[in-house]
Amino acid sequence: MKFQLQSFATPARLLEAECDCLVVGITAPRFKGLAKAIDQATDGLLTRLHAEGELAGKAGQTLLLQAVAGLRARRLLLVGTDGPAAGPAPEPAALARAAAKALAATRAAHIVWALGDDEEAWAHAVLEMQQADYRFDAYRTGEQPAPPPERTLSFATPDEKRHGALRARLSQAQAIANGVALARDLGNTPPNVCTPVHLAEAAQALGRDWGLEVEVFDRAAIEALGMRSFLAVAQGSTQEPRLIVLRYQGDKAKRAPVALVGKGVTFDSGGISLKPGEAMDEMKYDMCGAASVLGTLRACAEMRLKVNLAAVIVACENMPAGNALKPGDVIKALSGTTIEVLNTDAEGRLILCDALTYAQQRFAPAETIDIATLTGACVIALGHVRSGLYANNDALGQALLAAGDKMADPAWRMPLDAAYHESLKSRVADLANIGGRPGGSVTAACFLSRFVQGPWAHLDIAGTAWKSGQDKGGTGRPVPLLAQYLIDRAAS
Ligand code: BES
Ligand code: MN
Ligand code: ZN
Repeated sequence: MKFQLQSFATPARLLEAECDCLVVGITAPRFKGLAKAIDQATDGLLTRLHAEGELAGKAGQTLLLQAVAGLRARRLLLVGTDGPAAGPAPEPAALARAAAKALAATRAAHIVWALGDDEEAWAHAVLEMQQADYRFDAYRTGEQPAPPPERTLSFATPDEKRHGALRARLSQAQAIANGVALARDLGNTPPNVCTPVHLAEAAQALGRDWGLEVEVFDRAAIEALGMRSFLAVAQGSTQEPRLIVLRYQGDKAKRAPVALVGKGVTFDSGGISLKPGEAMDEMKYDMCGAASVLGTLRACAEMRLKVNLAAVIVACENMPAGNALKPGDVIKALSGTTIEVLNTDAEGRLILCDALTYAQQRFAPAETIDIATLTGACVIALGHVRSGLYANNDALGQALLAAGDKMADPAWRMPLDAAYHESLKSRVADLANIGGRPGGSVTAACFLSRFVQGPWAHLDIAGTAWKSGQDKGGTGRPVPLLAQYLIDRAAS
């Protein structure tokens, strides 16, 4: 997607803009600014539409009009911006999403976007438009609907002095959108294609395109490193596991990196503790933590962000087999901690614990953030709106929450009280891999916390990484949260 900044002295001058669609925010019944000018130029069209009940102005309501007499734009998209009288103002991202959804159904190429008037509203316009135009048809044959046109978004601002800053923010939004698209593609790719080896190849391609250092470790190399807990999960699958390490160096070489650790289970059948059949296909998305790490790296590289990143991705399948991990097995993690496996479906923590240890030992990171579709319990706790956020450091936790809210990729802070650790006690080993049903997302996070030193945060994205049902597909979350966090960190 391209974007432009245009200087118009007054809103009314926008009426002269020649374009395929003019997108305008509406407050009804009293039209202001550009809406008022449009109403006047069209002989009271908006007033009439409102009187007829077609244009209530309610937040997110859209009305697409073609060939409006009095306007040079070929289409006019009206977007309601009125929040509830007593409630909070509508989120810029929600308005942008509604507009983008309506626009995606059109062939409008050149869009003049006069919805919202600051860089944040416009950053959301770029992100949402890109999201709305996203397609995943690599596996369809036969005639396909035409791909969306190459779109150009024009934003109007009278203040030319701010063009530099605005353009910089729009470029960031574009880079984040590209990272989101990469994460969505990887998540959507079927599990017979998106194997651990495929993830490693995607990482290598990313490295080539963006000048990242990439290392890939195969089963023997992982064994030599001593990541036995990771290998225990991988052992029941004929798909070879991969440990994938990527480095992006945007800051001084000696600065300790931020470690990003991603769960890359390319299919989670549950293993011997087999999952029920319903919706099991969705366990192809169990690598979305890894996908979000790659998407975030892509975004940071494209933004040339002044930050050092060390990404550690543990990729494998969790399958039942004669040689698979069993309930009751005791394994020794890279850290030396022994773990009693009480449920082979709690495999995410078994691979992540070794990835966390590896990241600590090799990179001595300034902070560590892991991202994982870790627990069904997190979906019960927070649904599909907010990701679960755990942090052993308040500043890190707060900064991640703020970044998520800003980018409409929100998270919610969850607890890590010492008392939750009780349920992870094992009769035979140092640690059990499950803590029972109560607080299942919390006890999973507590398990991980045993394998880190220093500031650490964990994002449980089980409810947010993909959508089920009619529009089933990867969401690319939490790439916007992570990328924004790193932008903020680089600026401070
Ligand atoms: N990948 C799943 C978590 C998951 C389940 C995400 C459903 C999204 C939807 C994870 O590996 C898992 O199976 N966790 C178990 C843990 C339990 C055995 C303690 C779960 O949540 O049921
Ligand atoms: Mn599982
Ligand atoms: Zn899993």
